[in-house]
Amino acid sequence: MHPALVRKKNLLIALLILFACSIAQAREAKTLAELVAMFDDKQCAECHGEIYSQWQGSWHAKAVNSSLKGMRNFIAVGLAKEWQTPLTKAQLLKCLDCHAPAVNFASEELAVEIGELIVTAFEEKGSAQGVRAAETLAKLNVGCYSCHNIKANGVAPGLRGAPAEKVIYGPNGDDGDDFHQSVASSDLQTSAFCMQCHGVYHAPDGETIQCNTLSGSYRHGYLAAGGSKSCQDCHLNKGHLFPGGHDLETVKEGLGLRLEVAPYQHLPGQITGVKNPADWVPSAVITAFVDNRAGHRIPDG
Ligand code: HEC
Ligand code: HEC
Ligand code: HEC
Ligand code: HEC
Ligand code: HEC
Repeated sequence: MHPALVRKKNLLIALLILFACSIAQAREAKTLAELVAMFDDKQCAECHGEIYSQWQGSWHAKAVNSSLKGMRNFIAVGLAKEWQTPLTKAQLLKCLDCHAPAVNFASEELAVEIGELIVTAFEEKGSAQGVRAAETLAKLNVGCYSCHNIKANGVAPGLRGAPAEKVIYGPNGDDGDDFHQSVASSDLQTSAFCMQCHGVYHAPDGETIQCNTLSGSYRHGYLAAGGSKSCQDCHLNKGHLFPGGHDLETVKEGLGLRLEVAPYQHLPGQITGVKNPADWVPSAVITAFVDNRAGHRIPDG
């Protein structure tokens, strides 16, 4: 090849690499502020006020801070002491892929920083530094974009591809005026969508992690016995509040109580030392049936 052509080819390759890098960089946050801005749920409140406040009251909205102890133990005891494995983004995603999916878009350094914040927030609880760490971590959770973008295509990633930046995936495909383009995806209405997180995480290194066994019993207990409801049928009845085991009303809905009473006369005429030899002890056999009306084993965790 002519030297000038080789130079041109090299330049082209260099430009292509630069272009590829800039795409990757556009989707990688180096600071927590950048990461939060990338998936800013506060913007949704302006037009979806009611849904936003329901979500704020949900466990999804505090999915990191409510689980600090477990995550700190994983980082500071499991990784650091028991397995002597350095804290990396891949390790942290073994928790945060489900508890804060946005962290998939953090740089390696930022992910490690988030891991350290988790340890600080737990170990320095109550001190100014600990409170600051928890306030920062509150910005990471299972937010609007977690479900309507990041995890939206996860049920069939090979078929649907990666979710497009800023696009909202929803049940009908209704656009949000000029603010967002929407894509209709019935996937969000399937139990398989929820089971991505309420199920098993397969880490790239082959490890599998599950916090709860609920989706297993949904599939093998409830569906197998003829159950026909989806997770959404039972858990979206109060909108985006997603009530579960922390909600007394939902717990009551999950339990059925039936009593069968069989009264009988105990030892009639056989009791000695009483005035009337025909006396008997009034007795009853009471059988209590506690039914599980949830779509899976309860309690779970
Ligand atoms: C496959 C997704 C997934 C992964 C991975 C995951 N979790 Fe969870 N975690 C959940 C879900 C879903 C719940 C809520 C379960 C429930 O209420 O039945 C939960 C609940 C918890 C809770 C209880 C929270 C509470 O409010 O009582 C703790 C603690 C916790 N996880 C810690 C961790 C830690 C530590 C890791 C990493 C080692 C981790 N999780 C990895 C999905 C996951
Ligand atoms: C845990 C996952 C999850 C989170 C978090 C979540 N959504 Fe949803 N959302 C869903 C699912 C599932 C549906 C579809 C419900 C159906 O039709 O069965 C839905 C439906 C919707 C709809 C259309 C139907 C309706 O109820 O009006 C809007 C709008 C919406 N979500 C906005 C939001 C906003 C805004 C946030 C953040 C404040 C949010 N969602 C957070 C799962 C989620
Ligand atoms: C400027 C107003 C506005 C903002 C901001 C906005 N939306 Fe919407 N959105 C709408 C309108 C209008 C619709 C269509 C009518 C409806 O479903 O309420 C809609 C529809 C939706 C739907 C249903 C889509 C479907 O498939 O039916 C979802 C989900 C949704 N928005 C999520 C979000 C999320 C998440 C955010 C924040 C990132 C957001 N919206 C921000 C106005 C807005
Ligand atoms: C991105 C991961 C993710 C997705 C997707 C997801 N969840 Fe969750 N969900 C969680 C985590 C993590 C928790 C635990 C949060 C905590 O304890 O603070 C949780 C908590 C809950 C709870 C509250 C449990 C309680 O203890 O009260 C219910 C109910 C729930 N999810 C139902 C659903 C349903 C239904 C869907 C599907 C529409 C869904 N979730 C989708 C991660 C997810
Ligand atoms: C037939 C209705 C029904 C179906 C279907 C159903 N659930 Fe539940 N779920 C309940 C009820 C009722 C409770 C409260 C019972 C309790 O925790 O004592 C509950 C509790 C939960 C909890 C809290 C568990 C705990 O121990 O605190 C989570 C998380 C949850 N469900 C998620 C899901 C997911 C994910 C699916 C789909 C794979 C699903 N549910 C399917 C009715 C249902």
